[in-house]
Order: sequence, then C-alpha cells, then structure tokens
Amino acid sequence: MHKLAIQGGNRLNGEVRISGAKNAALPILCASLLTRESLRLDNVPELNDVGTMRKLLQQMGVKIEQSGGQVVLSAANIDKLEAPYDMVKTMRAAILVLGPLVTRFGEALVSLPGGCAIGSRPVDLHIRGLQAMGAEIHIEHGYIHARAKRLKGTRIFFDLVSVTGTENLMMAAVLADGVTVLENAAREPEVVDLAQCLIAMGARIEGAGSDTISITGVEKLHGASHRIMPDRIESGTFLVAATAAGGDITLTDARADILDNVLEKLHEAGAVIQVAGSTINLKMNRRPRAVNLRTAPYPAFPTDMQAQFMAMNTMAEGTAMVVETIFENRFMHVQELRRLGAQIDIEGNTAVIKGCAQLEGATIMATDLRASACLVIAGLVAQGETVVDRIYHLDRGYEHIEAKLSALGARIRRMK
Ligand code: UD1
Repeated sequence: MHKLAIQGGNRLNGEVRISGAKNAALPILCASLLTRESLRLDNVPELNDVGTMRKLLQQMGVKIEQSGGQVVLSAANIDKLEAPYDMVKTMRAAILVLGPLVTRFGEALVSLPGGCAIGSRPVDLHIRGLQAMGAEIHIEHGYIHARAKRLKGTRIFFDLVSVTGTENLMMAAVLADGVTVLENAAREPEVVDLAQCLIAMGARIEGAGSDTISITGVEKLHGASHRIMPDRIESGTFLVAATAAGGDITLTDARADILDNVLEKLHEAGAVIQVAGSTINLKMNRRPRAVNLRTAPYPAFPTDMQAQFMAMNTMAEGTAMVVETIFENRFMHVQELRRLGAQIDIEGNTAVIKGCAQLEGATIMATDLRASACLVIAGLVAQGETVVDRIYHLDRGYEHIEAKLSALGARIRRMK
C-alpha cells in the first residue's frame, strides 16, 4: 500500500495546471452508452476512478482507445448489461450506467452500492425516478434489475438535491418518449458539462444549471466530441493548500466562475486572489484567519471542499464553525487531525475548530477521498514529518498530486 511522506513548513510557489474534472468525466464516460457512434473526449483525467469506469464499460463491450487525456469510446456492440458488485463497491459513480442502459437497451442489472465511509448514501431517488418513467424495477440478490420497453417522459420531483441522481435521470430521459421535467434538480457545473456533451450528441435539453431541467426525448443520439471541464475541487484544494502553507501560486486551465463560494472564503481567510481568463493567482503572506462555513448543494459551499478548509482552520487565527449538511458521516478526518495536535470538537453535524499556532507531524490515515486531501494539507503545514497512510483514496480523485505539489516546492514523496 502506498503512503505519502511530507516534510512540513515549505511555502508553495509556482504554476500548476488543473486537470479535467473527475465528477464530470465519470457521467460523460457513461454517456457513451447512449449511442452506437463514437464519443471523443478530451481532457479526461488519469485517475483510478476513471480507470475503474473504463474497465466497467469495457466489460460491457464498449471499445475504448486512449492516448493521454484523449479517449474515444464506441458502444456499437454491447453484450453485457451489467455493473457487478466488485466495481460498484469501489466506485459509487458506477450507478451512472443504470439510466443509459435502461433507456437504450431496455434492461440493466446494477449492483446496489452499499455503505461507504461518508454515510449510507442510498440510490432510492435514481430508482424512483426510473420507475416514474415506466421502468419495472426489482431488487434481487443485492442488484437493481431494471426493465422497460421505452421509458416515458414525465415530471420528476427530487425530495433531495442529488448530483448523480439528476445525471442518471437526465441520461435516461434523452431517449425516452416525450418530455421529462426534473424539478429540484442539481445545479452543479458537472451536470451542465454532461448536458452540453449530450446536446452535442443530439439530445434536446433545456435548463441545465437551474433547478428545473426539461428534456425532450429523441429516437437516437449520434457521435460527438467534447472537452471535459476543469476540476473545481482540485482547483480549490491547491488554493486552500497555498492559503494554509503561504506562498504565491497560479492555477492554469481553471475556471473561477464556478468557484465563487470557495474564493470568497479564501479571501475572508486573508488570501489575495486575482483572476485573469483561465488562470487564478493566489498570494498569502500571513497566518490565515479562521472561516466559518456550511456545506450545501451548488452554488453554496461544496461538501467536497469541507475537509480541506478544516485543515486550514486547524492552524488559523481564531475559532471556526463548520456545518456539514450533505453527508452524515463526513468528519472522519477530525480524529486524524487531532493526532497532529488540532483542537476540534464535534457535536452532531457541527465541528468547532480552535486554531492552534502549530501542528506537529505524525502518522495518520486517509479514510476517504477528500479527507485524504485534508490530511495532505495538514502535513504541508505541520512541523516535522507527516506520513499519510492509505492514499489509494487520494489516487481515486487527484491526478499526480505529489508531482504537482513538489513542483510548487512542497517536500512530499510517495513510499511503496
Ligand atoms: C456527488 C459527487 C460527490 C459529492 C456529492 C455532493 C459525483 C461522482 N460525486 O455524489 O463528489 O460529494 O455529489 O455534492 O458526482 N441521496 C439520497 N438518495 C439518493 C441519492 C442521494 O438520499 O437516491 C442523498 C445522499 O445520501 C446525500 C445527498 O442525497 O446525503 C446528496 O447526495 P448526491 O448528490 O446524490 O451525491 P452523489 O451524487 O453520490
């Protein structure tokens, strides 16, 4: 198992290119199932989750050619309409094959994801939405077995905002008979990126990026080319790292317009931020001020940035309150931060963090993807050496993170 060893105390300086967004790439790879023609993608990040999705699609019969960040997928001949447990348990986003398979082939067998470290995360909204569109669904031996002749457009109201739920039903609706209206839909930029790719494939979608998305089904989709949007969570993670460690960094190939809330909080912490086109520059020459935050669906503060801000708050001036409203068990990193000397109290879904002048390096363990990023940031500012164990979580969602941080001047190395 790989570990990261980090010598804390260096400031971060220089330029870092932002990769394609994991959470846009995963649904868009699944969109290839919706047509027999080729889908050409650019800026696909090299991540373990993307590798898992590739394997899943290949075992269904999708032909995939890859060269760096360019991927061409062809789902002309699909022989297996199944997503097995082994793959879904390592990556919940595998549920995103459900909508495309049922709508194009009339059948799908997809494992239920089961529990995960950050909460129970059910998929009832995906299932109920497909049922409302006329699919017959049975849960058999831990699998969702869905069947439908042709899905029918209808109005679907989400009780809770669900990102992959919105994406799954949007993909199901593009080939359905009639109009589907998704209400209380997720407004995340990754939903918009998927919609743009589907529109390029011939889908008729209006309202993506708002809470009401209207999709008029078409008979079939065709091939297209699409460039995956920049990863806003990777962008935010580097910006928080530089705010915590101090320095002067510039993100390239980034998008500031989808980071409003995060940039606002970094400004509150004391960072000076300048945006020019697709670059974001951040300068930090002081100890950060503590910042309060509350996670909520986009455009509010993203739950995927909560842990990284927690790391910064542990060494900030003052006391911060962090409220997590999306996932019930997303404070797993707190125990590990305490091992570095952080002072954090938790009550229900609220963490109160009292900033301390200096964290001290120790061996700590990553528990999920964003918690891993939080521990790396803590390691960058702690005194002495921090060893982060179980970084396979990190490799699921951050492309070449140690190479990128090293290039910025961090002392970080991977140990096998
Ligand atoms: C996506 C992101 C993940 C991010 C999360 C919230 C991808 C691949 N992953 O996950 O990085 O942290 O959005 O921004 O895009 N829920 C239900 N029933 C359902 C579906 C969801 O109760 O059928 C609940 C979940 O347990 C959670 C909340 O709704 O409490 C939001 O979850 P959701 O937006 O669906 O998260 P994901 O799409 O899995």
